[in-house]
Amino acid sequence: MELISPTVIIILGCVALLLFLQRKNLRGPPCIRGWIPWIGAGFEFGKAPLEFIEKARIKYGPVFTVFVMGTRMTFVTEEEGINVFLKSKEVNFELAVQNPVYRTASIPKNTFLTLHEKLYIMMKGKIGTFNLYQLTGQLTEELHEQLENLGNNGTMELSNLVRHLLYPVTMNILFKKGLFPTDERKIREFYQHFQAYDEGFEYGSQMPECLLRNWSKSKKWLLALFEKNIPDMKTYKSAKDNSMTLMQAMLDIIEMERKEEKSPNYGLLLLWASLSNAVPVAFWTLAFVFSHPTVHETIMEGIASVFGTAGKDKMKVSEDDLKKLPLIKWCILEAIRLRAPGVITRKVLKPVKILNYTVPCGDLLMLSPFWLHRNPKYFPEPELFKPERWKKANLEKHAFLDWFVAFGSGKYQCPGRWFALLQIQICIILILYKYDCSLLDPLPKQSPLHLVGVQQPEGQCRIEFKQRK
Ligand code: HEM
Repeated sequence: MELISPTVIIILGCVALLLFLQRKNLRGPPCIRGWIPWIGAGFEFGKAPLEFIEKARIKYGPVFTVFVMGTRMTFVTEEEGINVFLKSKEVNFELAVQNPVYRTASIPKNTFLTLHEKLYIMMKGKIGTFNLYQLTGQLTEELHEQLENLGNNGTMELSNLVRHLLYPVTMNILFKKGLFPTDERKIREFYQHFQAYDEGFEYGSQMPECLLRNWSKSKKWLLALFEKNIPDMKTYKSAKDNSMTLMQAMLDIIEMERKEEKSPNYGLLLLWASLSNAVPVAFWTLAFVFSHPTVHETIMEGIASVFGTAGKDKMKVSEDDLKKLPLIKWCILEAIRLRAPGVITRKVLKPVKILNYTVPCGDLLMLSPFWLHRNPKYFPEPELFKPERWKKANLEKHAFLDWFVAFGSGKYQCPGRWFALLQIQICIILILYKYDCSLLDPLPKQSPLHLVGVQQPEGQCRIEFKQRK
């Protein structure tokens, strides 16, 4: 019998090794699929999604896939995967969010893709750091007006107090002065529908609207509100200067691209984006400050040194005043770090390698700012509210701390982040200047139910406020 030559053996060996390596390289991350077809791990995941992610990381390692409602979501939790999420050209924001945008605001995918970049660039300019401080005066005036309605003293749910201030201020500044209703009944109606829409947003982004009757009713109510007000928004001219509101600038672009029929839908999307995170962030910041007496005291001393001790006059707040009160900004950023969005997402366009795995094209790549901000490697003593950690961030140059991703990252990072910080800073200064405040309940826990956006409080948290003498 003829012996196989050593050359053939070597060639066969090489081929086997190549096939083995190729197989290994194409191996996807461990996948949690549940046992029900299509729904996959939907029930276990839906019960408490934030906890599910952390338990899965401990069990399966730093990269894992969860199959839910026909979708593969691949979570990255350590440096290599996070870098792919943040930097790779093979992962895409627009394609990841086009479905949720269609479900929640009825904006067709092709319209969204045509308009997205133009609208984003406009927003980034209009409410970015260069133009932002033009809004300081208006923000202060509007907030004074809303604070007036609170009276001299009272007890209220802290979330309601924040809503009472930020809903009208945001709508009157970003959309049109006077858009927020002034009639009691209409205000109640707006609250009810916006809250229902906001609370159901996460389900609405995943399920057909016909399964969510009440949510759909509120969505239609809000769309009708915009439909009715868009003609007025278009012709509205600011009494003080000729500047356009953010919504007016949006309407111009939508009209230029001949998509006018979708203007109310963009109004709804902007309304949600501008309120859904800013309101809980203002809530958490105040709740953390009130439950940390030394921080509260230091802030009060700062406010007194800049504006004086009396809380009665309607003082003005300038950019310079804000620079003298850095602790307030640090508290806001620290509250955002601790209550950051559960996930942000990108679509995988071409297979990407992470550790020894290949994440296939079509997967949604998921990054959890909430859990990343709890990694002691990046944020020492991560569970503690430590505003002073922000001293290290170069906020003057508009840079956050490394690994802080609550506003997303990369090309389509949140365009409203500087507006949100400015609005919440002024809101906190004016509340603390006018009132002595204390919490009547302990700091609430965060609800475990949400992945989209900033975490919501679970249970009540009342505040008592008295006008300062
Ligand atoms: C503290 C409050 C806020 C937080 C934590 C927040 C967070 C985020 C995050 C995580 C994203 C996704 C970014 C990504 O995936 O990379 C985003 C997008 C966005 N945010 Fe914010 N946001 C806040 C306030 C605001 C405000 C006040 C506005 C409007 C004035 C706004 C407007 C938007 C818009 C329009 C987008 C979508 C951008 C796009 O389509 O490319 N946000 N935000």
